[in-house]
Amino acid sequence: MYGKDSPIGVFDSGMGGVSVLRKLSRVMPGENFIYFGDSVNAPYGTKSKEEIKALTEKAFDFLRDKGCKAVVIACNTATSAAAKYLREKYPDYSIIGLEPALKPAALSMDYPKVLAMATPLTLKEEKFNSLMAQYEDQAEFIKLPAPELVKYIESGELDSEEEIQYLEEILTPYKDGKVDAVVLGCTHFPFARKTIQRILGDDVLVFDGGLGAARQTRRVLEGKNLLNGKEEGGAVNFINSIPEKTEIAKKLFYYKG
Ligand code: DGL
Repeated sequence: MYGKDSPIGVFDSGMGGVSVLRKLSRVMPGENFIYFGDSVNAPYGTKSKEEIKALTEKAFDFLRDKGCKAVVIACNTATSAAAKYLREKYPDYSIIGLEPALKPAALSMDYPKVLAMATPLTLKEEKFNSLMAQYEDQAEFIKLPAPELVKYIESGELDSEEEIQYLEEILTPYKDGKVDAVVLGCTHFPFARKTIQRILGDDVLVFDGGLGAARQTRRVLEGKNLLNGKEEGGAVNFINSIPEKTEIAKKLFYYKG
């Protein structure tokens, strides 16, 4: 059972969801969180939809069994593969997913060119493509899978030489004004935001879905009268399927960037 004082569960294939957790704890500083990273199975984005669905359900059950009052699937890939299924299975439970920020990017100016970076699975899935179809009259979208970036963020060594080189390689075709906005459609990518911005240029607008998901979580809990009502003092319990990795998650949580 759960109630107002229960924690909020947050889940990702590994470290990426920490970028969402940072926003959640800013939006609800008095709430307690359990962050579960499934690093033993990361990356998810190159696996089949069925595999990701099964892994997501396992992580979701783990957080629910811990008494969480809501679960935030802080992973675009896991949301695409399993959120609909889990919501149908548990219609009364609060499940918040991640949505690539295509809408704010499309509406940010008159017919922008939007580079949408995500995992191969996210870019292939119906969720992403139907969202893109909704805004196709307002923007030109270019899909850019960036699976390797997940690996660099998972290591916890941000802005390593290899990571920068990889980003230079995949982003060079879009430099020098060739795109107006970029969507970070994977929760790992905000940890590379500065490098992405530097390569694409200061004029390029950068969007991610973390803050939107955090606000949506607060709205959902408020609607069910499940907020704990505290303004400060919330704590995070970090758990990972590779226990040593919890230190990396903590480091990223406090990362100044
Ligand atoms: N963080 C996940 C996302 O938002 C994906 C990372 C992975 O491939 O495991 O899509």
